[in-house]
Amino acid sequence: MPSLCDAFRSIPMRFKMEPDINLMKEVPELYVWPQEDQLGVEAQSYGDGDGDCGTPVIDLQGEFGCVVEQVRVACEKCAVFQIVNHGVEKELVDRLNKQSHRLFSLPLDQKMLARRSPDGTTGYGVVRIANFFTKLMWSEGFTWVGSPSHHAKLLWPHDYQGFCDAVEEYEKAMKKLARKLFSVILQSLGIKGRHYARWCEDEEGCAGALQMNHYPSSPCPSQTMGMAPHTDSALLTILYQGGVEGLQVKRSDGAWMLVPALPDAFVVNIGDLLQVISNGRYKSVVHRVVNNRRDRFSSAYIWGPPLNAVIEPAAEVVDSKHPRLYRSLTWHEYLVARAKHFSTALQLFTTTPVENLT
Ligand code: OGA
Ligand code: NI
Repeated sequence: MPSLCDAFRSIPMRFKMEPDINLMKEVPELYVWPQEDQLGVEAQSYGDGDGDCGTPVIDLQGEFGCVVEQVRVACEKCAVFQIVNHGVEKELVDRLNKQSHRLFSLPLDQKMLARRSPDGTTGYGVVRIANFFTKLMWSEGFTWVGSPSHHAKLLWPHDYQGFCDAVEEYEKAMKKLARKLFSVILQSLGIKGRHYARWCEDEEGCAGALQMNHYPSSPCPSQTMGMAPHTDSALLTILYQGGVEGLQVKRSDGAWMLVPALPDAFVVNIGDLLQVISNGRYKSVVHRVVNNRRDRFSSAYIWGPPLNAVIEPAAEVVDSKHPRLYRSLTWHEYLVARAKHFSTALQLFTTTPVENLT
């Protein structure tokens, strides 16, 4: 079975972590983004609370049928929602957050000991989408795929266990939650076939990555960009905002809406592969992160299918009124295409592909 590394090997990353933005008192030219982007948390609105724009908050301990219906409405209207009463212990979330602070507060040369290799998946570095932008982002990230122990030992040769325990326990909890959410989402689409339902069970093979992000306080948030606009490439993403705002989603009218950082809630967003499975009924939402005058730490758990599993619109969502929009693909194929074409990659897999991208 191909690995996430295989998918990235063909397109190495440019690596740009120096100088250390944690130490900068002014914004260098390379980090100044175009002004029309309305950057900075203060410049943003929250939307009106429902409809196309607010972020619905769903209580996962509510009555099951009611949760399914709330998820359907949220996915169709907003493609992003928040969940509370999700069953993940607050103690675990706090512990992970603490370890994330510990990690990013290391000096740059120490973090560089555990940097992600150009074709690798785990390690310290800029987000992969940095390749597609000429300006640099005001953030640093650490991606964890599989066991964290190798990289954690590079960072703390004598004191890595607490970090590894937190990451492993958190990943386990996220995997369980992702499977539960996926099951609700399949129900909300009326998808009953075994092909996808299998992934709701405790089977190995579904791939996940934990992306820890740090957005250092910005000397001028209206000039810097924490994370540039993108969609997530997997099935779904479960994000912890660490109590500090910065995440924005793009509304259908093009305006950016700030997602409130509610205590004890996770933000869930639909990824590109779920857009394919739902035949475009649920959209993979474009989002970005703006900066603050204070540090922000977030953790995104990105959950995807086995890398070589067939992904295609489910039979239950295709009919004469809703003709099939996407060809069959695997996550592996999609990641390779995305590493090359970024935001236009999904168009390659539509039933009417855009010629000049191939
Ligand atoms: C991501 C992402 C949002 C955040 O890691 O893909 O969109 O708030 N993160 O850090
Ligand atoms: Ni994202």
